[in-house]
Amino acid sequence: MSVKSVRNICCIGAGYVGGPTMSVIAAHCPYIEVNVVDINEKRIRDWNSPNLNDLPIFEPGLDKLIAKCRDVNLFFSTNVESCIASADVIFISVNTPIKKKGLGAGFTSDLKWVESSARQIAKFSEGHTIVVEKSTLPVKTAETIKNILDASVEARTDSLDNQQNKTYSIISNPEFLAEGTAITNLENPDRVLIGGEDMQAIELISDIYKNWVAPEKIITTNIWSSELSKLVANAFLAQRISSINSISALCEATGANIQEVSIAVGTDTRIGNEFLNSGPGFGGSCFKKDILNLVYLCRYYGLSEVANYWENVVRINSWQQNRISKLIIKNLFGTLSDKRIAILGFSFKANTNDTRESPSINISKDLLLEDAKLCIYDPKVSKDKIFGEFEEMHGKDSLKVCESAYEACKEADAVILLTDWIEFKNLDWNKIFIDMRKPAWVFDTRILLNKKYLNQLGFKVWTLGSS
Ligand code: NAD
Ligand code: UGA
Repeated sequence: MSVKSVRNICCIGAGYVGGPTMSVIAAHCPYIEVNVVDINEKRIRDWNSPNLNDLPIFEPGLDKLIAKCRDVNLFFSTNVESCIASADVIFISVNTPIKKKGLGAGFTSDLKWVESSARQIAKFSEGHTIVVEKSTLPVKTAETIKNILDASVEARTDSLDNQQNKTYSIISNPEFLAEGTAITNLENPDRVLIGGEDMQAIELISDIYKNWVAPEKIITTNIWSSELSKLVANAFLAQRISSINSISALCEATGANIQEVSIAVGTDTRIGNEFLNSGPGFGGSCFKKDILNLVYLCRYYGLSEVANYWENVVRINSWQQNRISKLIIKNLFGTLSDKRIAILGFSFKANTNDTRESPSINISKDLLLEDAKLCIYDPKVSKDKIFGEFEEMHGKDSLKVCESAYEACKEADAVILLTDWIEFKNLDWNKIFIDMRKPAWVFDTRILLNKKYLNQLGFKVWTLGSS
């Protein structure tokens, strides 16, 4: 049995990947009905909000796509059962966080949401369905999905109410978008990767993308290569950040300047200049998780040297965050007790409201443990979300979430710039200086501010990667 052409897509998971990806597909394929389903009712309500400022995720350009497609050929709902039943293609875009306990805890992904999606598909799908892994998954997860789907078909062959001859093709189609630039990345991807064994299914998924992506950008592989390539791409990107961050510490010790080194190194066309910005360590929901999955996989296959190599990328990342906390404390006379510290930026990078694995979280927690009073400001992260990150934390009473950078910095002893929001560059730093307690410190972990100018205003300034 086969699907002749794709007319109906269901995406399970209305998150940072599902929402933007399906919006772009809907915009370019008006002949396809796209249903995005989620078990989280609040999230779906927010996706359907008439006020586009209330969408559950902030991504530049997303609001325009939603305005154009929503309730035309793009629908957000909790109708998991009926949307699965009518779909030719189902994208699984659910969360795959690191397992918290049991076998592989701390390293491998918890596949419980993927498994529950597969069981829902097994139960409600009709006829032939192409099941697409969009979530990032450990290598060979397609086999798990296939086992669940096949087992349910076998179990039902005798049952009278299930004579529909359910069949499935499993395809891997990992997503490479980066938050903050998701729509641009989806509109103009470097490549689209499609892995699988069923050539007809691969062709049908390619045809969806060919509505706006040049055919030569569509790479097809076997399913395991596709799953592995996603983990490796993230590992390589993260490795560049850890490499440059390790050198930032050497620059501080020796008098070199990390930005100058980045430019000098990155202009070698073989190396390239992207992903060489030193900072407070990479955040985001995926780099750490995907590398740790790779590490787990290597250990599973007895490749301990390979596992150790990649694990060090994550270790350097934690070390970078930790050393920044320590030097803040050291510069503020070794004690933060009763000192007021402004934290500028809480999302893990600019142009997103996502805080998962944000360096701001760990660094703020380190400072709270030293009895600092923190005043946090982020242009897009809500108060509830910020407080939520400290729920189980001792000392969270010393936390205030502010409405503006100026409010956060008022009477502070130090400002820690942690997210590269461009608005921080354009603040009235003279006004901030006047309102702060002296000596007034700025710790610029994103190398965003003009150190010379701040020094002239009277600030004491620490900038990452220079002395
Ligand atoms: P997310 O947490 O924002 O969204 C996942 C959604 O799936 C949640 O809203 C959750 O309620 C829903 N869900 C879970 N189980 C469900 C079920 N059985 N039925 C219906 N809905 C269900 O996650 P995300 O950031 O969109 O990431 C999804 C996947 O994509 C992950 O595997 C991630 O590694 C990968 N990825 C993420 C990014 C990114 O930038 N965030 C980029 C590329 C790949
Ligand atoms: C990353 C990848 O870039 C995407 O290709 C991938 O699809 C995605 O992970 C995923 O699988 O989830 P994302 O985490 O959204 O995307 O954002 P990045 O731009 O990669 O930034 C990640 C972190 O690295 C941020 O904290 C950022 O500030 C930091 N970073 C990035 C640096 O410190 N220096 C750089 O030069 C670049």
